[in-house]
Amino acid sequence: MKPELLDYLRAPITREPFSLESDSSEGGVWTGQLVTPSETYPIVRGIPRFLTADELKDQEQTQESFSYKWTRADSFYTESRDEIDDKTFDFMVETEPERYGFEDISEMRQHYESADSILEVGCGSGHYTSLYMTPDYRGKYVGVDLSAGIDIAKERHAGVKRADFVQANLFSLPLKEQAFDIVHCRGVMHHTPSTEAAFKSVSKFVKPGGEFIFLIYRKNGPVREFTDDLIREAIKDQPAGEAWEKLMQLTKFGKALSELNVEVDIPEDVDLLGIKAGKYDIQRLIYNHFVKAFWKSDWSDDESNIISFDWYHPQYVFRHTQEEIEGWCSEEGFEIESIDDRWVGFTVRARKLAA
Ligand SMILES: C[S@@+](CC[C@H](N)C(=O)[O-])C[C@H]1O[C@@H](n2cnc3c(N)ncnc32)[C@H](O)[C@@H]1O
Repeated sequence: MKPELLDYLRAPITREPFSLESDSSEGGVWTGQLVTPSETYPIVRGIPRFLTADELKDQEQTQESFSYKWTRADSFYTESRDEIDDKTFDFMVETEPERYGFEDISEMRQHYESADSILEVGCGSGHYTSLYMTPDYRGKYVGVDLSAGIDIAKERHAGVKRADFVQANLFSLPLKEQAFDIVHCRGVMHHTPSTEAAFKSVSKFVKPGGEFIFLIYRKNGPVREFTDDLIREAIKDQPAGEAWEKLMQLTKFGKALSELNVEVDIPEDVDLLGIKAGKYDIQRLIYNHFVKAFWKSDWSDDESNIISFDWYHPQYVFRHTQEEIEGWCSEEGFEIESIDDRWVGFTVRARKLAA
């Protein structure tokens, strides 16, 4: 933990500032514990840890599932864990900048790098963070996650001068409200017991005039929705390793479909299934409308299976409509500047109006 993080931290219950009881400060990184007269939290391996048993009670399964995913050796990091391999990076760059309304990756990076402070809620292992944050970033970055991914994120971004990582629950973030120019929350809020409550909790940390940039899963066609719930219900209570093996069958099904290399021409919209007329690769057609049998030909089976596991194993994976998201933004005083609904969800950039 870096000394300046103290200015941003607040005790989750009393909202008081912390003082630090430090064991050591090696190379400007503190360890020890954070204290107020009534609350104490440890700093372990340079990361303040705020997860009490009470904090975890509704999301123990979520934490276990994502901890399993992020700590698998094939989970989006190279051996040194400090960079993203080229094929993962190319995969992310293909769609991400556009979804956020940027021309390309350099425009996206310029935008984030011009912010004095960024809070990322649900940073996971920080691999998507690499899209917008490089070691050149000079502002304050705080990454928060519930899972063991936080330790990997910290290692991966060790080269970013003012980056700090915190293990906490987004429903009681131990941070100063209205303190960040950008709050980034990609693919996280729908993994909690209530996406709406998560939205209300996280959006409080955006400064007036600042930006809330987030991705929330969208509702799909009726058959995909049905299959998604069916499969999740069947495996969410299985230990992560067993669920991984079960989902591998689905991944191999996706591989077999993909290897057919067949295109289907759907002559007119099929309203009942939510399918638009057009030409589709058979694997993409089944993936988008019937079951998420993911497969990517230049990835290994394990790498592809991460996508199925991320979708089907966590206990909460809610999907929403654009109207719901627009309603939450307006209730919390945000003006939507861009909204994109390609792929799996709505990617939104919303500005907090001055009070
Ligand atoms: C699908 S991953 C997204 C990770 C990253 N944002 C990305 O785009 O790759 C969802 C992340 O949200 C985290 N998460 C879920 N519920 C949370 C909560 N209540 N508080 C903090 N993090 C949470 C999980 O641990 C997981 O790392």
